[in-house]
Amino acid sequence: MERTFVMIKPDGVERGVIGEVISRIERKGLKIVAMKMMRISEELAQKHYAEHKEKPFFGALISYITSSPVVAMVVEGKNAIRVVRTIVGATNPAEANPGTIRGDFGMDVGRNIIHASDSPESAKREINLFFSPEEILDYERAIDKWIY
Ligand code: TYD
Ligand code: MG
Repeated sequence: MERTFVMIKPDGVERGVIGEVISRIERKGLKIVAMKMMRISEELAQKHYAEHKEKPFFGALISYITSSPVVAMVVEGKNAIRVVRTIVGATNPAEANPGTIRGDFGMDVGRNIIHASDSPESAKREINLFFSPEEILDYERAIDKWIY
């Protein structure tokens, strides 16, 4: 089983679609193994988006992501990194396919509802940035015999 880091961003929280987004993750068959609502500090935001430091949108990205609470999660499943990226959709919601979270909810690249790790390396790095090992829970779900 693979783990990925998922975060409902401030626009998702303020628009009141936390439940809708979590529902899509759950009904796909993915398992939430850690979750918390939090406000991201400037420092954590800079670390999380370090790869974009030199990009022209970096400043706006940091002020957006720290502007309101987020819901951070660790999501587990077979090929979870790729599967979550697929249900999340393309970075720009205006171009994301209908049926994806970004395709169904957004209009602007700077307001795209959700973050999901893009590789095993970034998943590991991001999970460690947001969660301590004790916050990630191991449990059985009765439905898993119907998922796999
Ligand atoms: P990126 O890692 O390229 O996208 P993704 O979230 O799909 O992995 O970029 C990180 C975030 O930066 C993205 O979710 C939205 C924001 N962003 C902009 O505001 N403008 C842009 O032109 C790009 C590429 C991203
Ligand atoms: Mg990315």
